Amino acid sequence: MTAIARARRGTVLLLLAVAACQQPKPAPITTTLGTSWDPDPYFLALVGSSLGAMHASYSTTDQILRAVAFGRLEVARAAAGRVARPDDMDAAPRWQPFYQAVRSAAAAVEAASTVPDAARATALLARACATCHEEVGAMLRFDPNPAPAGGHQVIQQMQTHRWASERLWQGLIASSNPRWLDGAEQLVAAPLAIPDANPGVAADVTALRRHAARAMDAGPQAERATIFGELLATCAGCHTRGAGGAR
Ligand code: HEC
Ligand code: HEC
Repeated sequence: MTAIARARRGTVLLLLAVAACQQPKPAPITTTLGTSWDPDPYFLALVGSSLGAMHASYSTTDQILRAVAFGRLEVARAAAGRVARPDDMDAAPRWQPFYQAVRSAAAAVEAASTVPDAARATALLARACATCHEEVGAMLRFDPNPAPAGGHQVIQQMQTHRWASERLWQGLIASSNPRWLDGAEQLVAAPLAIPDANPGVAADVTALRRHAARAMDAGPQAERATIFGELLATCAGCHTRGAGGAR
């Protein structure tokens, strides 16, 4: 680096640091998946002070995921409405299109009239979040949250399914290859045997196995989002067939 380049770089960093100091520092945010986040001043300066407030409303996306998985369409739609209409918007113009993409994707979840449609729209919402994370170069941190012990009782099988699908979800949002594959591997390996399964439930078991295998092989993020939408629709399908539907 030349002396001038070094001096310039120093000035840029200083300006960023000054800008960061002027931002009101939001409180750490805890998402419903148990992640806690204290925004990095560098990103606050780069994207705008609304980053923290926007992400506080974004923690609702985890509620959307869980509501859809149990076929609770109205709960999912209400949560999506909160992401679609945030009350704080002072992002730098450069980042407005990314926020807009998230709002449109959330509006599509809110407008969904069936659970499978909501599932697909939810996966696309995660993808919209990821587009900004990719653009801005954010490396998302998640709590370690080790995989459950597993076991063959239905409830144990389901705890593994939940863990694996939340990994896939985080992998999508963070655009993280290791996280996605971590979830896919657990899902492929997880037992899924429901006693006295009727034909509908048996078909869901087959479908889930197929989606899990595809998740292992999936390439680009867009393809992963498509698979995740189908997977989530399958969770919901079985749960609303009377299998775990009470939750
Ligand atoms: C306009 C850009 C932008 C959009 C849109 C956006 N994010 Fe982020 N997000 C960031 C940045 C920048 C960071 C990293 C900041 C840091 O490292 O402190 C981040 C970090 C995160 C983190 C991790 C926090 C941590 O501990 O590292 C989570 C979780 C997150 N975003 C979720 C979401 C979700 C969910 C959405 C969509 C509903 C979303 N984000 C949309 C810019 C964005
Ligand atoms: C083939 C049917 C079927 C599929 C597919 C299915 N589940 Fe379940 N799920 C059940 C049944 C049955 C229960 C009720 C278990 C009980 O309460 O004993 C349940 C319950 C649950 C529970 C509640 C467990 C608890 O701690 O009370 C979670 C979480 C869950 N499922 C997650 C998922 C996720 C995530 C997926 C998709 C990746 C999924 N399930 C796919 C049948 C299924």
